[in-house]
Amino acid sequence: MKLKTADYKRDIFYLMNKYSGTISIVEAEMLLEYLFNCARLDLYVKDFVVTDTIEELHDFLIERRLSGDPVQYITGHAEFMGMDFIVTKDTFIPRPETELLVNEIINSSRLVRLRRDSLEHYWNDRVSSQQYSSSGHDNISREQSREVKILDLCTGSGNIAVTLAKLMPQVEITAVDISEAALKIAEKNAERHDVSDKVKFYKGNAFNALVFDINPKFDIIVCNPPYIKDEEAP
Ligand SMILES: C[S@@+](CC[C@H](N)C(=O)[O-])C[C@H]1O[C@@H](n2cnc3c(N)ncnc32)[C@H](O)[C@@H]1O
Repeated sequence: MKLKTADYKRDIFYLMNKYSGTISIVEAEMLLEYLFNCARLDLYVKDFVVTDTIEELHDFLIERRLSGDPVQYITGHAEFMGMDFIVTKDTFIPRPETELLVNEIINSSRLVRLRRDSLEHYWNDRVSSQQYSSSGHDNISREQSREVKILDLCTGSGNIAVTLAKLMPQVEITAVDISEAALKIAEKNAERHDVSDKVKFYKGNAFNALVFDINPKFDIIVCNPPYIKDEEAP
């Protein structure tokens, strides 16, 4: 493998250094990953030839970034909880602080299950102590009772809904957004991460979107509503 140095003109470090100081190193890496269609680590361990065309394309991407486009809108991708999400101008770019919310939901869902288990024990004890037939209670399948139902209002790119569906084994998620365009992206993200069977998407204004849901009852409701003014949005 060839050793790379910053003064070897025409290698990837040449591009990285060309705009150092104008964009952050993380953004520079994200643009180069996109340009070379590679993983971040590859930038440091593989050899890439930087032709004139590549350099022009790179300069064009940097121009877009410097004119105010977030890198995620340029590349069409954003990372959330270590997963890759499609994003467009129709969707909010997932923020790292929202990952805290997802972790909180996963912890809360454990409490939901614990509470259900203790209720189930309570009922089973009562039924056996009163010498009733327990068959009625056995009809509630254990699997069903363990499924946690979550509503994600204002789903945007579906990052919260899709991540929860991916990380939680027994979960049923309903995701709502007022924007049809955002929902299309959210559905693509669910397909991409192979969780379409665990997430139902509805278009509409908050809870009003649930009029067609046959059982709109939830254990957990999460909502990250719009909080950036239109004029401040990128
Ligand atoms: C801040 S983004 C949140 C996106 C994503 N959940 C996240 O946490 O990154 C807010 C989303 O709420 C949607 N929205 C705005 N008003 C709404 C409403 N009345 N009902 C449902 N969704 C709405 C917007 O279309 C946008 O996708």
